[in-house]
Amino acid sequence: MDRLIVTGGARLSGRVRAAGSKNAVLPIMAAALLADGEVVLRNVPDLRDVATLALILEQLGVVIHRDGDVLRLRADREGPCEAPYDLVSTMRASVCVLGPLVARRGHAQVSMPGGCVFGVRPVDQHLKGLNALGAGIRVEGGYLLSDVGRRLHGAHVFVGTRFGPSVLATANTLMAAVLAEGTTRLENAAMEPEVLELTDALIAMGARIHGRGGHTLEIEGVACLHGAEITIGGDRIEAGTFLVGGAMTGGDVTVDGIDPGHLTALRETLGAMGAKVTSGSDWMRAEGPARLEATDIATLPFPGFPTDLQAQVMTAMSVARGISVVTERIFPDRFMHVAELLRLGALIRKEGPQAIVEGAARLSGATVMASDLRASAALVLAGLVAEGETEIRRVYHIDRGYERIDARIRDLGGQVRREAQPRLEQSRKQW
Ligand code: UD1
Repeated sequence: MDRLIVTGGARLSGRVRAAGSKNAVLPIMAAALLADGEVVLRNVPDLRDVATLALILEQLGVVIHRDGDVLRLRADREGPCEAPYDLVSTMRASVCVLGPLVARRGHAQVSMPGGCVFGVRPVDQHLKGLNALGAGIRVEGGYLLSDVGRRLHGAHVFVGTRFGPSVLATANTLMAAVLAEGTTRLENAAMEPEVLELTDALIAMGARIHGRGGHTLEIEGVACLHGAEITIGGDRIEAGTFLVGGAMTGGDVTVDGIDPGHLTALRETLGAMGAKVTSGSDWMRAEGPARLEATDIATLPFPGFPTDLQAQVMTAMSVARGISVVTERIFPDRFMHVAELLRLGALIRKEGPQAIVEGAARLSGATVMASDLRASAALVLAGLVAEGETEIRRVYHIDRGYERIDARIRDLGGQVRREAQPRLEQSRKQW
């Protein structure tokens, strides 16, 4: 297993290109299950989550070819319908094969995704949406099972949680409704840019969807979809991570290949912290002051502040001047990074779904453990401003969602190296 060693003190500066969006490409890959022809995806990021979903899709009989950043997927109407626990449990997003399977094949046997480090993460709203369309999904032996065996039907359905709309429940319901008989009215749809990308991809495949980008979608079901060529947009969360890195190291980072309209909440936050943020049609630039100022954030559904950037901005706050308050309104338990930041000398107190962050004059390098994807990125950022060396273990989390993060941070002037983690038995032998 690899670890990252970050040496603090360098400013990040320069240009970096955002990779294709992880959260956009995953549901669009699943949507290939719906099409009669070949779906060609361009600008596909080279990530472990993409490889995991490709494995699941192969088990479902999808023929997949990868050539650089181009992925070709072809799925027959008939085929196996089981997504097994071993794969689904490594990545929650794999639950988005459920909607396409029941819609096109009339059967599904998809492992319940299980919990994750930042909470229970139920799938009740996925089931609510799909069952309203007649999928008849039940939970048995840890699996979500459907053997409806016929075409789904349109319905009027409201999908959402007490935290607001659900991104992947919207994706699942939408993907099923496009092949259902009749019209579906989907209310309280998530408006995250990745849902819009999925909507556009489905439209390119022949789906009839009205109200794209809004909270109410009207879907006229069609009998079949065809192949299409789709280019995946730049990853706003990856871009945001680099921009936070530029701002908090007193650096100057420009990220190319993104829609700055996807990062307005981050722009506001970094601006309030004293960074200068500018943008053009497909780039955004953050220039940091010598030291950032404190501010408050609350994570919210898009266009509010994204929960996937909460850990990174909290890291910036932990070295800013003054006291910041972070309120997590999407995943109230998503604070695993706090304990690791404390190891570096951060001054953070957690109070329910809030963290009170007192900016420390300095952080000092230590060994820390990556707990989830975005928390790992936050620890890399922390290492960049901590004195001495920070060793981040379990970096496989970061490889799930960031393409070659160590090399790209090095290109911006940061000092990060990747090493194999010495095995415990070996160190015991030496001892
Ligand atoms: C997606 C993103 C993830 C991001 C999250 C919120 C992907 C692959 N993942 O996850 O990176 O952090 O959106 O923007 O796109 N909930 C329920 N019942 C459900 C579904 C969700 O109670 O059936 C709850 C969740 O536990 C959470 C909230 O609703 O508290 C929002 O979650 P949701 O939008 O569904 O997140 P995901 O789609 O899983």
